[in-house]
Amino acid sequence: MASSTCKLVTRIAMATAAATLVALPLQLVPTHAQGQSFGDRLYHDKADCQFCHGVNGDGHGDPRSPGKAPNLHATKLTRDQLIEVITCGRPASEMPHFDKYAYEDKSCYGLSAAELGKNMPPDPHSTPLTKREIEAVTDYVLATFVGK
Ligand code: HEC
Repeated sequence: MASSTCKLVTRIAMATAAATLVALPLQLVPTHAQGQSFGDRLYHDKADCQFCHGVNGDGHGDPRSPGKAPNLHATKLTRDQLIEVITCGRPASEMPHFDKYAYEDKSCYGLSAAELGKNMPPDPHSTPLTKREIEAVTDYVLATFVGK
């Protein structure tokens, strides 16, 4: 290899390495700048769980919110059970079902909307969530409130 080619290859390699070093911190910036995690935003904004369960998950939501939303710090539910209650709501209570299609089949507690009648959990006052969003808000609740 002629020495000029050799120098060129070295330069390209160094330039690539430098570009990678510069690009890395830049990629991290958006995550830090946002501050709030996806689950956090779902809890406080998009799904508005805080309206009933409180900003800090302690059950002290807006006094006008319906039902007596429990303190999430004290829940004994497992991750799967949390996902179930957020997906399906709680029959005969104000806890909404965040899965839009809950009770269209019998995947929630083996019950259909027809069987539940007036005990059907309400639709959210905010918005339904996807499976991925339900998992994200569950993991946020687990990491931030449960047992803390
Ligand atoms: C309209 C008010 C309201 C909203 C909005 C609401 N909840 Fe609830 N939630 C309740 C009530 C009331 C209960 C108690 C149900 C019962 O009587 O068993 C409950 C129960 C729960 C439980 C079961 C706790 C336990 O230990 O049994 C979990 C977990 C929960 N909510 C999480 C959430 C999450 C996460 C959101 C947002 C995605 C949310 N809730 C939105 C009112 C609400």
